[in-house]
Amino acid sequence: MDTDRIEIKLNNKKCYDILISDDFSGLESELGAILPGRKRACLFTDSNVRDIYGNEVRDILLKVFEEVHIFSCEAGENSKNLDTIKDAYIFLIENKFNRQDVIIALGGGVCGDMAGFTAATYLRGIDFVQLPTTLLSQVDSSIGGKTGVDLNEYKNMVGAFYMPKLVYINISVLNTLPDRDYSSGIAEVLKSGLIKSAWFYEWMIGNFGEIMAREPEYVRGMISNSLNIKKSVIEKDPFEQGERALLNFGHTLGHALEKYYDFSMSHGECVALGCIAASFISFKRGLLSTEEYYEIRDMFVPFSLPISIEDADVSKILSYTRSDKKNDGQGLKFILLKKTGKAFVDRTVTEDEMRSAIEELIYKEE
Ligand SMILES: NC(=O)c1ccc[n+]([C@@H]2O[C@H](COP(=O)([O-])OP(=O)(O)OC[C@H]3O[C@@H](n4cnc5c(N)ncnc54)[C@H](O)[C@@H]3O)[C@@H](O)[C@H]2O)c1
Repeated sequence: MDTDRIEIKLNNKKCYDILISDDFSGLESELGAILPGRKRACLFTDSNVRDIYGNEVRDILLKVFEEVHIFSCEAGENSKNLDTIKDAYIFLIENKFNRQDVIIALGGGVCGDMAGFTAATYLRGIDFVQLPTTLLSQVDSSIGGKTGVDLNEYKNMVGAFYMPKLVYINISVLNTLPDRDYSSGIAEVLKSGLIKSAWFYEWMIGNFGEIMAREPEYVRGMISNSLNIKKSVIEKDPFEQGERALLNFGHTLGHALEKYYDFSMSHGECVALGCIAASFISFKRGLLSTEEYYEIRDMFVPFSLPISIEDADVSKILSYTRSDKKNDGQGLKFILLKKTGKAFVDRTVTEDEMRSAIEELIYKEE
């Protein structure tokens, strides 16, 4: 087994490790080392992941914990709500979970966000571990401690910052991930390059064939580079007082599009469109050249990500940005690019600028 380890610090002290591995063979010893003598584990998963990996992971957990209980929700963003959290609380109570017990998230960002929020709030906080199984959760959602759920049309509106004890990434699980979900994760990877590392962005573009073929060496390189960018941002600003907002590049209009399409488009697809729209605003402000803007837009294509939408109700999309968490009364915290690899927070982006960016996304016959 070949394992990479990335340490995440909080206030300059070690907080947790992220392990990148080719299989689950190191999980038993890692869990035994950080959570010795714990009795119960709740494997928090979804209907798809349970069918593929539930038994394998349960059997490993049974070597570390006396009891393993599986809580499984319906796969998909529509489950990410307080009703599922209530079901999870009842499940934990009925199975006599106490503060010494542990929640283990096995799944994508939806499971990880909900398992983390359940762990943060059940009995005022019990330990949790992330076993992310989508590319998006491996590069992004499983680290940094943001947990939570959607409330009606308000995305991620209820949540908590709550750190996992361990993030264990088995990259081989990506082999069963549908193509569309794989590409969705790549949107967050490209975003991390666009905001922080022109070198990594160019590496992604230069190796798109190997990455799309999911060649393990390139998948590992993509994941560890992307995680190191996220690490550098969250260690400086764990609770999003400043620089961490850069990670929201593409997310203001991305979240609005997610809601507009009622989650029929994936998070990553909407983030890709949001990155293009934010790059368009940067271009219109004279920060990016014409070539830079079109390169950013067109480079989502080889990764099977959308760069345009069908005719849409632009006013309705805009209305969703008004309920965005990033709108804190002092104006929307919008992320723009100074150049590829360098993003900044701007509070002066107007509705007119956003309107023309969305209109630019609408597909036109050339
Ligand atoms: N907490 C954060 O910092 C953060 C960051 C980014 C995104 N998010 C959240 O993450 C969520 C999106 O996450 P996602 O894209 O992982 O979606 P997801 O969790 O819905 O997973 C996508 C699909 O893939 C399936 N799946 C998962 N792993 C699989 C595997 N190995 N093989 C086969 N199928 C598999 C799932 O069942 C689901 O159908 C959104 O709710 C978003 O808000 C959170």
